Amino acid sequence: MSSSSPTVYSISLLLSLALIFIFAPEILPSQNPFSSPHDDLDDLALFNKALRSVHGDGRGGHRRLRISRLATKNPTPKIAFLFLTNSNLTFAPLWDLFFRGHSHLYNIYVHADPFSAVEIPSPFESHLIPSKRTERASPTLIAAERRLLARAILDDPFNLYFALVSQHCIPIHSFPFFYRSLLGDNPIRAFGSQPRHRSFIEILSDDPNLPERYAARGENAMMPEVPFDEFRVGSQFFVLAKRHALLVLSDRKLWRKFRLQCLNLDSCYPEEHYFPTLLSMADPKGCSKFTLTNVNWTGSWDGHPYTYEAPEISVGLIRRLRQSNSSYPYIFARKFSPDCLPPLMDIADDVIFRD
Ligand SMILES: *[C@@H]1O[C@H](CO)[C@@H](O)[C@H](O)[C@H]1NC(C)=O
Ligand SMILES: *[C@@H]1O[C@H](CO)[C@@H](O)[C@H](O)[C@H]1NC(C)=O
Ligand SMILES: *[C@@H]1O[C@H](CO)[C@@H](O)[C@H](O)[C@H]1NC(C)=O
Repeated sequence: MSSSSPTVYSISLLLSLALIFIFAPEILPSQNPFSSPHDDLDDLALFNKALRSVHGDGRGGHRRLRISRLATKNPTPKIAFLFLTNSNLTFAPLWDLFFRGHSHLYNIYVHADPFSAVEIPSPFESHLIPSKRTERASPTLIAAERRLLARAILDDPFNLYFALVSQHCIPIHSFPFFYRSLLGDNPIRAFGSQPRHRSFIEILSDDPNLPERYAARGENAMMPEVPFDEFRVGSQFFVLAKRHALLVLSDRKLWRKFRLQCLNLDSCYPEEHYFPTLLSMADPKGCSKFTLTNVNWTGSWDGHPYTYEAPEISVGLIRRLRQSNSSYPYIFARKFSPDCLPPLMDIADDVIFRD
């Protein structure tokens, strides 16, 4: 009896492995060259740690601690700026001006692809988080954005909003303007109104490319978790309220689908679908469906929006970029070529940061 036990164990182990291979091909890492099982486990541990830091460990310990900290330490709500980059942060000097004098009201987190030669200027370098490879047409950008959210949640319980930007984004309003429009002037009210904070992310259901993009992983690959009529597209760059950041970190169901490698790489933009679809399924009323980042898709090419060049930078351009059809103006804009930095710096104080 005892001598046969190891054999029984080995056989059942082999059987369960075989079952895993047969019934759950989507959890197999070999399908996706950029996402190893180790990566996913790492990330999962990070996300769980971030969620526990807010919701506690089931015994309410952390939660009580946070509430007492809130009560005693004269808390100030903050905005977390999440920089996602795979090239030089060319506009860092402009962002420096944007942030100057407001250090108690924001935090910065930078995810920089370790596989590309990226120059991160010193004020930003100290905000680098442990980063992994990012590639277009793969789920790696979603993973990087979730990592940024988790690090920001863990780092500072007073981060109430999370603004994702890239190396090609610039601010087109002042920091106080942005801060006030999200959080108002009264810190206590800002904490208290969290259940009503809205996220700013574009959510569209009528894009002509949706059917093709829905089928990018195979005809029925997204079922049953994501039926076609729940599939959305929107802006990659968002400003999320904290409860939505937590929702993103707790999601397993949609990620199991969106992490699958696309078969059709021409229709593969996972990060433009994952966040809008998840938020629209979970809390459509809590989202403005409008992005605060102005992107010019006129004459776009190969999935890239129009890129402004130095001679186009003017007072008139900044004013045009702010205008929107929503009740909110645009706060950020992209994309700008690196040679735009000098003319943007020239009009920073008199135009860009004058609201
Ligand atoms: C990034 O910055 C470094 C150092 O300033 C420079 O050598 C390099 O060419 C830059 N890369 C790009 C893509 O601009
Ligand atoms: C958007 O890009 C087009 C070129 O594709 C340009 O003509 C237009 O002026 C741009 N829009 C704005 C608001 O700058
Ligand atoms: C606002 O909407 C109108 C009509 O749809 C459109 O022509 C115009 O370009 C939009 N303006 C902006 C700034 O989006």
